Amino acid sequence: MPPISPLLLEDLAAVVGPMGMLTAPGDLPAYTADWRGAHRGRAAAVVRPASTAEVAEVVRRCHLAGVAVVPQGGNTGLCGGATPDETGDQVVLQLGRLRRIRDVDPVEDTITVEAGAVLRDVQASAAAVGRLFPLSLGSEGSCTIGGNLATNAGGTAVLRYGMVRDLALGLEVVLPDGRIWDGLRPLRKDNAGYDLKQLFIGAEGTLGVITAAVLRLVPATPRRVTAWVALPDVDAAVAVLGVLREHGGSNVTAWELMSHEALSMVLATASQARNPLAAPHPWYGLVELAGPDGAVGLTAELEAALSEAFARDLLLDAVVAGSPAQRAALWSLREGISEAQNLHGPSLKHDVTVPIRRLPAFVAATASALDDALPGVRLVTYGHVGDGNLHFNLSLPPGLDPAAFLGHSGRLSKVVYDAVAAAGGSISAEHGIGTAKRAIAATYLDPVELELMRAVKRALDPRGLMNPGKVVLPG
Ligand code: FAD
Ligand code: MLT
Ligand code: ZN
Repeated sequence: MPPISPLLLEDLAAVVGPMGMLTAPGDLPAYTADWRGAHRGRAAAVVRPASTAEVAEVVRRCHLAGVAVVPQGGNTGLCGGATPDETGDQVVLQLGRLRRIRDVDPVEDTITVEAGAVLRDVQASAAAVGRLFPLSLGSEGSCTIGGNLATNAGGTAVLRYGMVRDLALGLEVVLPDGRIWDGLRPLRKDNAGYDLKQLFIGAEGTLGVITAAVLRLVPATPRRVTAWVALPDVDAAVAVLGVLREHGGSNVTAWELMSHEALSMVLATASQARNPLAAPHPWYGLVELAGPDGAVGLTAELEAALSEAFARDLLLDAVVAGSPAQRAALWSLREGISEAQNLHGPSLKHDVTVPIRRLPAFVAATASALDDALPGVRLVTYGHVGDGNLHFNLSLPPGLDPAAFLGHSGRLSKVVYDAVAAAGGSISAEHGIGTAKRAIAATYLDPVELELMRAVKRALDPRGLMNPGKVVLPG
């Protein structure tokens, strides 16, 4: 890539205006590193367009000049996908000013939003018309719809509503050469050729810049019943899923799991956090059933499920939230793990899925192999057990120097990913590949699958200027 010219920077500033361009060294670090400080790069400029036309013009000019563009939303991603490389020649295209809710349509049951809209604002706009936009993540106060779509985000309600891919009906995208594809259709049935929007969803900004989306809304579920339970092992967590479904059917919205180690990190770092159960237990679960206002029977369904689970020795203890504040406190224990683990020094993240029935054997065998590989390594296991998705993360053993711990990362991660492959799972359940898992993807993905991905990249971005170096490298 050529170094960026002062003339191009002047051109880009003319497109986005003085409010839309950052080049002063002091202004850039918030955009050139991820929130964990795990990925760091440099950039020639951070450009913040305020309309689709401005995005298209910025991308077109960068394309003509041979300059690479790195799309960025809320910068909450966990794989380095929104971080520029080390050269200092790339432009970060930050979508935060493109944040209008263009339309909320209770007849079509859709919401049309710009890419930089923060997820929580989209949820609130849906709620204002008595609907639910069901994507729910711990980062929802900061992440953007564009980033959610680009990573095909999952979160805590996938069990009921699917990934964000399942919630998207139409997209508007600026292609790597600056053309605009207007695929912003609110149609539930649309078989007119290839489903192109699905190419851009989960592509982590490597095929184009998502500028707006039409998203599906569902009936609101303000009535919620939530319980925190203790479990003896992962076998029990898998069996409880069946019990919940039997009694709660499609009202079951979340089934989350966390190890004692994961909870203890939250309790050690968040001053308000309390274990809602008296004794420590090996595993904890968070279950939620939800329904429309005035729904009856949710509590009875939850109680029936818990009773059966106790009768089958699947649960050691349980507490049901008695108020919205108690519910929020339970969720903050679960959603606080990511931040708490970050406060405990460097961590190795493994966001993996395996078929649900294989989770118990996977966890037992991998835990033991990891302890052989680095005795005392802390297993911080938590995640969306109802989806077969665990964050099988590692933190350094007490007394080990962080640099020495990171020196073991290749060996430790190989233990995890070999076990995932043996179980027929995926090396990335919901966070994506970015740069963090690029080498892992090259090792574990089917060679034909990798070649197809490279072919798609070459077809849409022949000059390799749209978020280069992320997901797959040219073969
Ligand atoms: P960014 O981090 O800015 O970017 C992520 C990727 O998308 C990058 O490759 C970037 O280039 C690309 N991108 C961003 N915007 C666009 C655009 N408009 N067009 C094209 N490409 C774009 N993730 C989950 O899936 N499930 C979870 O439960 C979850 N929980 C989290 C909890 C916490 C506390 C944190 C910090 C993160 C969590 N995440 C989770 C990860 C993260 O929040 C998601 O990946 C989120 O979707 C990223 O959105 P963002 O706007 O921050 O994107
Ligand atoms: C979560 O489920 O909490 C997230 O995906 C974030 C993480 O794994 O750090
Ligand atoms: Zn997650």
